[in-house]
Amino acid sequence: MPSAIFPPLTSDLVRVLIDADTIQNRVDELAKTITEDYQNVDELVIVGVLKGSFIFMSDLARRLGIPHTVDFIALSSYGNSERSSGNVRMIMDVRENLAGRHVLIIEDILDSGYTLEYLIRNFESRRPASLKTVALLDKPDRRIVNVELDYLGFEIPDVWVVGYGLDYAEKYRTLPYIAEMKPVTA
Ligand code: IMP
Ligand code: MG
Repeated sequence: MPSAIFPPLTSDLVRVLIDADTIQNRVDELAKTITEDYQNVDELVIVGVLKGSFIFMSDLARRLGIPHTVDFIALSSYGNSERSSGNVRMIMDVRENLAGRHVLIIEDILDSGYTLEYLIRNFESRRPASLKTVALLDKPDRRIVNVELDYLGFEIPDVWVVGYGLDYAEKYRTLPYIAEMKPVTA
Protein backbone atom coordinates (compact mmCIF):
# COMPACT_ATOMS: atom_id res chain seq x y z
CA MET A 1 0.00 0.00 0.00
CA PRO A 2 1.54 3.38 -0.93
CA SER A 3 2.19 5.67 2.02
CA ALA A 4 0.12 8.85 2.35
CA ILE A 5 1.65 11.94 0.79
CA PHE A 6 3.04 13.96 3.64
CA PRO A 7 3.77 16.82 3.53
CA PRO A 8 1.09 17.30 0.85
CA LEU A 9 2.10 18.55 -2.61
CA THR A 10 2.14 22.31 -3.04
CA SER A 11 0.77 23.90 -6.21
CA ASP A 12 4.26 24.04 -7.77
CA LEU A 13 4.51 20.26 -7.75
CA VAL A 14 2.79 18.01 -10.28
CA ARG A 15 2.99 14.58 -8.65
CA VAL A 16 5.05 12.30 -6.47
CA LEU A 17 7.46 10.49 -8.76
CA ILE A 18 9.06 8.25 -6.10
CA ASP A 19 7.40 7.85 -2.72
CA ALA A 20 9.28 7.74 0.59
CA ASP A 21 8.93 3.97 1.12
CA THR A 22 10.21 3.20 -2.36
CA ILE A 23 13.24 5.45 -1.77
CA GLN A 24 13.99 3.83 1.59
CA ASN A 25 13.75 0.31 0.15
CA ARG A 26 16.12 1.21 -2.67
CA VAL A 27 18.59 2.85 -0.27
CA ASP A 28 18.55 -0.41 1.75
CA GLU A 29 19.38 -2.39 -1.38
CA LEU A 30 22.16 -0.02 -2.41
CA ALA A 31 23.71 -0.11 1.07
CA LYS A 32 23.64 -3.92 1.03
CA THR A 33 25.31 -4.12 -2.40
CA ILE A 34 27.96 -1.53 -1.51
CA THR A 35 28.65 -3.28 1.81
CA GLU A 36 29.20 -6.57 -0.04
CA ASP A 37 31.40 -5.01 -2.71
CA TYR A 38 33.70 -3.34 -0.15
CA GLN A 39 33.86 -6.31 2.22
CA ASN A 40 37.64 -6.61 1.85
CA VAL A 41 38.41 -2.91 2.08
CA ASP A 42 39.87 -1.54 5.36
CA GLU A 43 38.22 1.83 5.11
CA LEU A 44 36.08 3.66 2.62
CA VAL A 45 35.94 7.44 2.22
CA ILE A 46 32.49 8.52 1.17
CA VAL A 47 32.34 11.97 -0.40
CA GLY A 48 28.97 13.68 -0.67
CA VAL A 49 28.47 16.32 -3.32
CA LEU A 50 26.78 19.26 -1.62
CA LYS A 51 24.13 20.23 -1.25
CA GLY A 52 21.85 17.84 -3.13
CA SER A 53 23.24 14.57 -1.77
CA PHE A 54 23.02 15.33 1.95
CA ILE A 55 19.87 13.38 2.74
CA PHE A 56 20.64 10.44 0.47
CA MET A 57 24.15 10.28 1.90
CA SER A 58 23.02 10.31 5.52
CA ASP A 59 20.51 7.52 4.94
CA LEU A 60 22.95 5.44 2.87
CA ALA A 61 25.93 5.93 5.20
CA ARG A 62 24.02 4.84 8.29
CA ARG A 63 23.20 1.53 6.59
CA LEU A 64 26.73 0.69 5.43
CA GLY A 65 28.15 -2.33 7.23
CA ILE A 66 31.78 -1.40 6.60
CA PRO A 67 34.12 1.13 8.26
CA HIS A 68 33.93 4.50 6.51
CA THR A 69 34.73 8.16 6.95
CA VAL A 70 32.58 11.00 5.68
CA ASP A 71 33.66 14.01 3.68
CA PHE A 72 32.01 16.62 1.48
CA ILE A 73 32.72 18.64 -1.62
CA ALA A 74 30.76 21.56 -3.02
CA LEU A 75 30.56 22.22 -6.74
CA SER A 76 28.51 24.50 -8.85
CA SER A 77 27.67 24.56 -12.52
CA TYR A 78 24.15 25.88 -12.80
CA GLY A 79 24.16 29.28 -11.16
CA ASN A 80 20.51 30.08 -10.86
CA SER A 81 19.50 28.58 -14.17
CA GLU A 82 18.19 25.03 -14.59
CA ARG A 83 20.45 24.24 -17.51
CA SER A 84 23.99 23.08 -16.96
CA SER A 85 26.66 25.28 -18.47
CA GLY A 86 29.35 22.63 -18.40
CA ASN A 87 31.31 25.19 -16.46
CA VAL A 88 31.89 23.34 -13.20
CA ARG A 89 33.46 25.26 -10.31
CA MET A 90 34.76 23.90 -7.02
CA ILE A 91 33.39 25.91 -4.13
CA MET A 92 34.73 23.73 -1.32
CA ASP A 93 37.19 20.85 -1.53
CA VAL A 94 37.32 17.70 0.63
CA ARG A 95 39.47 17.84 3.76
CA GLU A 96 40.76 14.28 3.49
CA ASN A 97 43.82 13.34 1.50
CA LEU A 98 42.45 10.90 -1.08
CA ALA A 99 45.77 9.40 -2.21
CA GLY A 100 45.78 5.63 -1.69
CA ARG A 101 42.24 5.66 -0.27
CA HIS A 102 39.11 3.88 -1.45
CA VAL A 103 36.74 6.65 -2.46
CA LEU A 104 33.00 6.55 -3.19
CA ILE A 105 31.41 9.71 -4.60
CA ILE A 106 27.77 10.23 -3.60
CA GLU A 107 25.68 12.35 -5.97
CA ASP A 108 22.02 13.27 -5.96
CA ILE A 109 21.34 13.18 -9.69
CA LEU A 110 23.18 12.64 -12.96
CA ASP A 111 21.90 15.01 -15.61
CA SER A 112 24.21 16.35 -18.37
CA GLY A 113 27.08 14.48 -16.70
CA TYR A 114 29.37 17.53 -16.52
CA THR A 115 29.54 17.61 -12.72
CA LEU A 116 30.46 13.97 -12.25
CA GLU A 117 32.85 13.95 -15.19
CA TYR A 118 34.70 16.90 -13.64
CA LEU A 119 34.76 15.27 -10.23
CA ILE A 120 35.99 11.89 -11.49
CA ARG A 121 38.80 13.56 -13.43
CA ASN A 122 39.72 15.76 -10.47
CA PHE A 123 39.73 12.84 -7.98
CA GLU A 124 41.59 10.47 -10.33
CA SER A 125 44.47 12.97 -10.39
CA ARG A 126 44.84 12.51 -6.61
CA ARG A 127 45.62 8.80 -7.12
CA PRO A 128 43.00 7.08 -4.93
CA ALA A 129 43.31 3.30 -4.44
CA SER A 130 39.88 3.03 -6.04
CA LEU A 131 37.15 5.42 -7.14
CA LYS A 132 33.47 4.61 -7.60
CA THR A 133 30.27 6.61 -7.92
CA VAL A 134 26.72 6.27 -6.69
CA ALA A 135 23.81 8.51 -7.66
CA LEU A 136 20.27 8.38 -6.38
CA LEU A 137 18.78 9.47 -9.70
CA ASP A 138 19.72 9.43 -13.37
CA LYS A 139 18.11 11.30 -16.27
CA PRO A 140 19.71 9.43 -19.19
CA ASP A 141 17.83 11.47 -21.82
CA ARG A 142 19.75 14.58 -20.76
CA ARG A 143 23.28 13.20 -20.99
CA ILE A 144 25.83 15.34 -22.84
CA VAL A 145 29.07 13.76 -21.64
CA ASN A 146 29.40 10.03 -21.14
CA VAL A 147 29.78 9.07 -17.44
CA GLU A 148 29.42 5.56 -16.07
CA LEU A 149 27.86 5.17 -12.62
CA ASP A 150 28.82 2.21 -10.44
CA TYR A 151 25.57 2.30 -8.45
CA LEU A 152 22.23 3.91 -9.21
CA GLY A 153 18.98 4.32 -7.30
CA PHE A 154 16.45 5.15 -10.00
CA GLU A 155 16.30 6.14 -13.63
CA ILE A 156 13.81 8.99 -14.18
CA PRO A 157 12.39 10.87 -17.19
CA ASP A 158 13.54 14.34 -18.25
CA VAL A 159 11.58 16.40 -15.73
CA TRP A 160 12.76 18.72 -12.94
CA VAL A 161 12.51 16.92 -9.62
CA VAL A 162 12.72 18.11 -6.02
CA GLY A 163 12.79 16.53 -2.58
CA TYR A 164 15.05 14.10 -0.71
CA GLY A 165 17.90 16.65 -0.96
CA LEU A 166 17.10 18.09 -4.39
CA ASP A 167 15.91 21.65 -4.75
CA TYR A 168 14.36 24.20 -6.99
CA ALA A 169 15.83 27.63 -6.07
CA GLU A 170 16.80 26.13 -2.66
CA LYS A 171 13.25 25.03 -1.88
CA TYR A 172 11.82 21.56 -1.22
CA ARG A 173 15.08 19.84 -0.17
CA THR A 174 13.61 18.19 2.91
CA LEU A 175 10.56 16.56 1.37
CA PRO A 176 10.76 12.81 2.13
CA TYR A 177 9.73 11.91 -1.43
CA ILE A 178 10.83 12.89 -4.95
CA ALA A 179 8.27 15.11 -6.67
CA GLU A 180 8.02 16.41 -10.20
CA MET A 181 7.96 20.21 -10.55
CA LYS A 182 5.54 22.06 -12.74
CA PRO A 183 7.53 23.23 -15.79
CA VAL A 184 8.74 26.81 -15.23
CA THR A 185 7.69 29.06 -18.09
CA ALA A 186 10.58 31.28 -19.14
P1 IMP B 1 24.96 17.72 -14.38
O1 IMP B 1 26.31 18.34 -14.19
O2 IMP B 1 24.21 18.34 -15.51
O3 IMP B 1 24.97 16.21 -14.46
O4 IMP B 1 24.11 18.19 -13.16
C1 IMP B 1 24.10 17.57 -11.98
C2 IMP B 1 23.58 18.50 -10.91
O5 IMP B 1 22.51 19.33 -11.37
C3 IMP B 1 23.00 17.69 -9.81
O6 IMP B 1 23.98 17.33 -8.87
C4 IMP B 1 21.92 18.60 -9.24
O7 IMP B 1 22.49 19.44 -8.27
C5 IMP B 1 21.47 19.41 -10.42
N1 IMP B 1 20.22 18.88 -11.00
C6 IMP B 1 20.07 18.29 -12.21
N2 IMP B 1 18.79 17.92 -12.44
C7 IMP B 1 18.11 18.29 -11.32
C8 IMP B 1 16.71 18.17 -10.94
O8 IMP B 1 15.84 17.65 -11.65
N3 IMP B 1 16.40 18.68 -9.72
C9 IMP B 1 17.30 19.26 -8.89
N4 IMP B 1 18.61 19.36 -9.20
C10 IMP B 1 19.01 18.89 -10.41
MG1 MG C 1 24.30 18.06 -7.11
